[in-house]
Amino acid sequence: MKVITSIKEMQALVKEIKKDKSIGFVPTMGYLHEGHIQLMQEARLENDTVVVSIFVNPLQFGPNDDYDSYPRDFERDQNICSSEGVDIIFHPSAEEMYPSPLSVKALVQRRTNVLCGESRPGHFDGVATVLTKLFNIVQPERVYLGMKDAQQVAVVEGLISDFNFPINLIPVGTVREEDGLAKSSRNIRLAPEEREEAPELYRSLLLAKELLEAGERSKEVVIAKMKKHIEEKTTGIIDYVEIYSFPELEEYERLEGKIIIALAVKFANARLIDNLVLTVE
Ligand code: PAJ
Repeated sequence: MKVITSIKEMQALVKEIKKDKSIGFVPTMGYLHEGHIQLMQEARLENDTVVVSIFVNPLQFGPNDDYDSYPRDFERDQNICSSEGVDIIFHPSAEEMYPSPLSVKALVQRRTNVLCGESRPGHFDGVATVLTKLFNIVQPERVYLGMKDAQQVAVVEGLISDFNFPINLIPVGTVREEDGLAKSSRNIRLAPEEREEAPELYRSLLLAKELLEAGERSKEVVIAKMKKHIEEKTTGIIDYVEIYSFPELEEYERLEGKIIIALAVKFANARLIDNLVLTVE
C-alpha cells in the first residue's frame, strides 16, 4: 500500500495505473470505522485499484463547526486501509490542497436548501469543491459514497451529471451498530448517557416506516410522531426532522414514490444525522 501526500505524485501514478487498470475511489475524512470499511470492501470487489483519500476538508466546515476538533488518527487509519487491501491512500495537507485562496469554487444550487444544507450554509459547496479537485486528481471510474449522508449522495449525483465527470456513483447502505445507531466518526463524542439514547434516532425512523406501511400519508403526522419520540426518549435537541422526495429533495404534497425521511439531532458535543430512503406505493 502506498501513501501519497503530493498531488503531482498522485496524478503521475494515476496516469500509469489508468493505462490498463480501473480505479475505485473512496473519499473520506479519516477516523475510519465500519461504515468507511464497507465502502472500501465494495470498491475492492469492483475495481483493480482502490484509492482512499483521507483529508479533513476545511472548506466544508462552517465557523461554528468542529474542524479543529474533528477526530484524526492517521496511523490507525493506515492500518485499517492496509488490512482492507487498499492500494493507495491519498493524504494531502490542507496547504497542498489549498495553497492559496481559490479563484473558482463550486456552488451547489439545488438539493441544498433543505436538511443539512439549510443548517450548514456553504457546507455542500465545500464538499462539491473538494470532490471536484479529488475527482480530477484520482480520476476514478467509480466513486463510493455512503447513504448515511444521503443528501451528499444527492448533491454529488448532481455534480457528476452537471459537470460531466465520467464517473459512476455507487451509493452504499448505512452501516449501523448492533443497537441501530448509524456508525459515525462523531459518535465517540457522545457522553455515556447520550450514547444510550442515540439509537432512539433510528427507532424514530423505523416508527415513521411503520406508520407509512400502516397507510399513514400525512407528512405532518409522521414528522410530529417522530419528533415526539425523539423528545421523549432523548436529551438531544432536534435540528430537523423532514421528509422529501429522493434524490430531488423536493417538497411532497402527498407521500408517494421514493422518499427520504431524514433527521439531525444535537447532543452536547456531537450533532448526529440519520435517514431512511424508501418507496411508498
Ligand atoms: P466522511 O464523513 O469521512 O465519510 C466518508 C464516506 O463514508 C461518506 O461517503 C459517508 O457517507 C460514508 N459513511 C460514513 N458513515 C457511514 C456509515 N455508517 N455507513 C455507510 N457509509 C458511511 O463524507 C465525508 O467524509 C466528506 O464529506 C467527503 C465526501 C470525504 C468530502 O470531504
